[in-house]
Amino acid sequence: MKLLIINGPNLNLLGTREPEIYGEETFEEYLLILQQEFPTITINYFQSNHEGEIIDKLQEANYDYEGIVLNGGAYTHTSIAIRDTIAAIEPPVVEVHISNVYAREAFRQHSYFSAVCEGVIVGLGLRGYELAVRYLM
Ligand code: DQA
Repeated sequence: MKLLIINGPNLNLLGTREPEIYGEETFEEYLLILQQEFPTITINYFQSNHEGEIIDKLQEANYDYEGIVLNGGAYTHTSIAIRDTIAAIEPPVVEVHISNVYAREAFRQHSYFSAVCEGVIVGLGLRGYELAVRYLM
């Protein structure tokens, strides 16, 4: 089984970015642990700060992956284009947010993605990615 994790803008800064909200672990550190926890599946990772690159990767993943874990970062709240791509592809997409967006600013409380995703995991820290992988398995 092949799964793809996609992180959107600013998530390359995990570890140093607002650690009181997003924690002190880098995603690369966490990914190694995640891959060790699920040795029988391939978990690939892609991060981009660019909307079009995320769209291209989702389109490519359509043919290559059986499930996608997507943290779109701030594009979650702005991108109809990424939403349309999620709706257009076959593999189930689980939306993940590290922080509890419902306990934060009002503009974070609307997601363009949720309605076209299989489900949403919010506010459980990096653990949300592991739960999404377990679900997709
Ligand atoms: C985030 C929440 C978004 O509102 C924010 O723009 C992010 C990270 C999260 O994982 O909690 O970049 O998606």
